[in-house]
Amino acid sequence: MKPFEIKGPYNPNPPKPKPKKRPLELGMEQLQDVGHIIAVASGKGGVGKSTVAVNLAVTLARMGYKVGLADADVYGPSIPKMTGTEKAIPEVEVYDEMGQPLPIDAELTEDCKEIICPIEKYGVKWMSIGYFARPEQALIWRGPMACNALKQMILQVKWGVLDFLLIDLPPGTGDIHISLVHDIPLSGAVIVTTPQAVALADVEKSVNLYRNPQVEKPILGIIENMSWFTPAELPENRYYIFGRDGGQLIADKYDLPLLGQIPLVQSVCESGDAGTPAALNDGPLFDAMRAAAEEIIRGA
Ligand SMILES: Nc1ncnc2c1ncn2[C@@H]1O[C@H](COP(=O)(O)OP(=O)(O)O)[C@@H](O)[C@H]1O
Ligand SMILES: [Mg+2]
Repeated sequence: MKPFEIKGPYNPNPPKPKPKKRPLELGMEQLQDVGHIIAVASGKGGVGKSTVAVNLAVTLARMGYKVGLADADVYGPSIPKMTGTEKAIPEVEVYDEMGQPLPIDAELTEDCKEIICPIEKYGVKWMSIGYFARPEQALIWRGPMACNALKQMILQVKWGVLDFLLIDLPPGTGDIHISLVHDIPLSGAVIVTTPQAVALADVEKSVNLYRNPQVEKPILGIIENMSWFTPAELPENRYYIFGRDGGQLIADKYDLPLLGQIPLVQSVCESGDAGTPAALNDGPLFDAMRAAAEEIIRGA
C-alpha cells in the first residue's frame, strides 16, 4: 500500500507554463503619427521609380513637410546609394512585452519588440533593407521570417511624426507586393511610368492590381518619368526620345490624373550615383518634382 499523500488545493511550486511561441506581431503603432502613406509603384524596374521616390521625398522636405521614405525593394534596394547613406548602420531599440525599453545587450524573448531608427539626411528619414545586408547586422532578421522583412521596413521603424511616408515598392505585381499593399494602411499609390508603349503595358498591370477588389487602394495618379531629354546647356529644348504623351494616354484611359512629367536630365543620373539627389538643387528636375508634389498634396 502506498503511503498517504496530502493533495492540497494549492501547490507552492507550480510548474511554469511554457512560454507561448508566437511570431513577433507587427502592429501599426509606429505609423500612428504618420499623415499620408504613399506607395511609389511601377509595373517593372528601370522606369526611375526609386529616382522619383527619392527626389519627391527631398522636394517635399524642401517644401517644409516632414517626410520619410521606406525602401521596400528587397530585390534591389537603391536608396542607400542614391542618398549616400550606404555606410550608415541604423540603431535598434528593444522593448519588452510591456513596451518598456530594454538595454541593447538584454537577452531577447519571443515577446520582445525591436524598433529600428531611420537614418536622417537631407531632412528626410530613410529606411532600407540595404542597411541590413551586412552579416553583422543580423539583428532584425531574428524571429520574423525573411518574408516579413518588407513589412518590418515600414511597421518596425521609429518614424515619429511625419506628414508623408513614401514607400518605394518592389517592381511588379507579385504575391509579396499584394500582401504588402494589403497590410499597410496606404493613402494611395503613385504609379511611375516612362512614355514608351512597352512601359505603358506594365502600368496597366499596376492599375489593375490597385483596383483589384481584394486590394482596392486609391491611385493618386501617374508620374511620367523621362518625358523628354533636356540638355543642361539648352534648358528650353525638349527632345522626346522615348515617345510623347504616353503618361497622358494611360491617365485618360483609366480616368486618373497625370501628376507630373519629369524630364530626363543627365545630372539626375549622376547625382543619383553620387548620393546627392538632384532635387536638392534648383533646376528643371526640382521644378518638375515640385509641380508633381503639389498635385499629390492636392489629391492625398
Ligand atoms: N529623370 C531622369 N533623368 C536621368 N536619369 C534618370 C531619370 N530617372 C531615372 N534615371 C536613371 O535611370 C536609372 C534607373 O532608375 P531607378 O530609379 O533606379 O529605376 P527603378 O527604381 O524604376 O528601377 C538610374 O541610373 C537613374 O539614375
Ligand atoms: Mg528601384
